[in-house]
Amino acid sequence: MSARTSNNTVHTLTAVLAIVITVGVAVQAFLAMSSFAGAGADAINVHRVLGIGLLVLGVALVGVAIGGYRDNRGIVGHAASIPILMVAAVGVAKADSWLGGLHGFLAVALAVAASSLAAITLRMRRG
Ligand code: HEM
Repeated sequence: MSARTSNNTVHTLTAVLAIVITVGVAVQAFLAMSSFAGAGADAINVHRVLGIGLLVLGVALVGVAIGGYRDNRGIVGHAASIPILMVAAVGVAKADSWLGGLHGFLAVALAVAASSLAAITLRMRRG
């Protein structure tokens, strides 16, 4: 496998993980709002399980970035911001009042971080 092919594999894998996380955040918003709108505990329980799944994907994304972008600290830092935002969001998920709102705010920041990482790595893939 040539260096270019392997780089493209890394770019593709990074972009796919980042896109899945971006879509996952949108699904999380859907589930949270469904719960608020009347679906109740069922929707929020699915939200909890998907949240942990997204956290696992976020950690996997950092592993891919560390292994695949050893000479590009910007990408590694960008990828690392994703599970960091997730952990911060989960940390305030049960907070009361205004602090609890940070959970949704951090989720939006997370979607921006993940979607921009996907855009950057897809552009790198095209060369
Ligand atoms: C998109 C906007 C989001 C909204 C509006 C939202 C809303 C909520 C709400 C209302 C709860 C219930 C809190 C409680 O039990 O008192 C919750 C819990 C939770 N959320 Fe989100 N969420 C969002 C995004 C996310 C994302 C992106 C993740 C994953 C990275 C996530 C992971 C979790 C987890 C793991 C819990 C359970 C926390 C616990 O039981 O300690 N949420 N969320």
